[in-house]
Amino acid sequence: MALYEWKDEYSVGVTRFDNHHKKLFDIVNRLHEMMKEGKGADVIEKVLRELVDYTRYHLTEEEKTMERIGYSDITNHKRAHKIFTDQLNEAMVEVDKGRAIFVVIKLSSTIIDWLINHIFVIDKKYLSEMTAGGVQ
Ligand SMILES: [Fe+2]
Repeated sequence: MALYEWKDEYSVGVTRFDNHHKKLFDIVNRLHEMMKEGKGADVIEKVLRELVDYTRYHLTEEEKTMERIGYSDITNHKRAHKIFTDQLNEAMVEVDKGRAIFVVIKLSSTIIDWLINHIFVIDKKYLSEMTAGGVQ
């Protein structure tokens, strides 16, 4: 069974971003499986980097879309992303030092915990403006 299940209540109402969020859940679950199977540090590190890269990609895409539609709360939203990205960058210093295997559990659960909280507190606010801006 997957460690983290994406639920309908996590939907932000924008299919593209829901798909991004689902993919983040998938990567974290894959990492969890790999840890259980005792996979080597090199492959774990590769997938951990994929997770962090995809998180960055997702946040950037969301910001680009908010810019395009002239989202009214973009400053606050970008600030929340920036605080989290700084945290990710800090964690990646450890990964760069070859400590991926020591940070993988904490980092992957941090990303999911942050994401779920961020969806409910910040992301869900953009739906009406996204819809009005033609984003689905
Ligand atoms: Fe966001």
